[in-house]
Amino acid sequence: MFIPHRSEKLEQAFAALSANYRGIDIDLYAICRDRRANSPVMAGDFMTSIGVPNHAGASHGNPTFTLFKYNDVKMVLQDAATFTSGFMAKGFGSFFSADGLIILAMDGDPHRAARGLLQPVFSPQAVLPWKTAIEQQIRDEFILPLVPNKRADLLDFGLYFPIRVIYGLIGFPNDALGNFYEYAAMGLSILAGPQLDPAKEAESRERAMKATNTLYDAVMELVKRRRAEGAPGDDLVCRLLRAEFEGRKLDDHEITTFARSMVAAGGETTTRTFSSVMTLLLQRPELLERVRNDRTLVSKLIDEAVRYEPTSTVKIRQAARDVEIRGVTIPKGAMVQCVVASANRDEEIFDNSDTFDIDRRPKPSFTFGFGPHMCIGQYVAKMELSIAVNAVLDLFPNVRLDPDRPAPVIAGSMLRGASSIPVIWD
Ligand code: HEM
Repeated sequence: MFIPHRSEKLEQAFAALSANYRGIDIDLYAICRDRRANSPVMAGDFMTSIGVPNHAGASHGNPTFTLFKYNDVKMVLQDAATFTSGFMAKGFGSFFSADGLIILAMDGDPHRAARGLLQPVFSPQAVLPWKTAIEQQIRDEFILPLVPNKRADLLDFGLYFPIRVIYGLIGFPNDALGNFYEYAAMGLSILAGPQLDPAKEAESRERAMKATNTLYDAVMELVKRRRAEGAPGDDLVCRLLRAEFEGRKLDDHEITTFARSMVAAGGETTTRTFSSVMTLLLQRPELLERVRNDRTLVSKLIDEAVRYEPTSTVKIRQAARDVEIRGVTIPKGAMVQCVVASANRDEEIFDNSDTFDIDRRPKPSFTFGFGPHMCIGQYVAKMELSIAVNAVLDLFPNVRLDPDRPAPVIAGSMLRGASSIPVIWD
């Protein structure tokens, strides 16, 4: 059987990324509550005010506005013609290849065409055939070997399984996973590229560019091999080689740049979400008991956890024309920060919005985005999370927080999650 590796580089890169976006110590939700009540449309840069670098490389000297209310955030994310994403190619996206398939930084027709090609590959029905392999990876490779230990830190495998899953989805062979953790560590250094300190930024940019090129070569080699074989498999690269929309197919460079971006898009996001789901569950022994005995509640648990504790607290767009929101004029070219962490707790939309309640009436939250750019990998992410939660509950009898170790804390102003979840079981 395949034995998972540990990677010091990956653990360091994850810790460095968390530190980069941790921001100043504030009560984020209290600040957001106040803003929703008193200045729901703020003229100013919220991210800088909480001490985190602007991860989209945004602003470029343009004025910045910040939105805190659910309906405003929803309107912005939904209207991709007025609130565009192309600016990301200059900032954050420049760590990837600007001429590649960097879907996050696309607008208009090119974005619609890219979604048309990719959506069928990631639909709920399309991801279902991947379930057995993902289950095997998470349960058998990561969780089962820990059972005799009777104690663990859930992050010891929470950091690894999403990368393992993406690695398998892309179609890399099993025997090179050690390398892939190194690549994933590089992927994280790409995300940590933007820095507040300009001196650090130059150094970090150089590291990120090296990482992005190394990853490119590894994926391109695989894409070329699969194309030469006639793309026979059900893995992502083969599916992308076969994908067609309005008579257009993807070339090797597009497939490579897209598959590479998945390491960044689907790795640490899932790790952080897993950490929040498990923390919120383990902190509530009664709920833990309920979910343990009724697994139909796992999807409600995940949906409420992503509302209550979004992994990434802010999304950014740029205004393509002058717009007025709640009497505030946002001029063409201005950057618009959408505070997802605030919108997800808007009391006008969610009753008792600061209460974690898996029984609340379901309404969309914005943790997976909204509108045309909504997370294309959300069904993969939810499948992974559900498999991981169920496996922990199945395989660790009476799992609970370790009373002799520090309790987990969900922290971070921009990227939120717990960095350690020590548990014991019978
Ligand atoms: C819990 C884990 C995840 C979270 C919280 C998350 C969150 C998000 C969000 C908020 C967006 C929208 C960004 C925007 O509007 O600017 C997004 C887009 C995207 N996500 Fe995820 N994601 C997760 C996992 C994944 C996974 C596992 C994959 C791939 C298998 C993935 C692939 C993507 C891609 C390709 C996009 C770009 C879509 C577009 O721009 O049209 N994500 N994600």
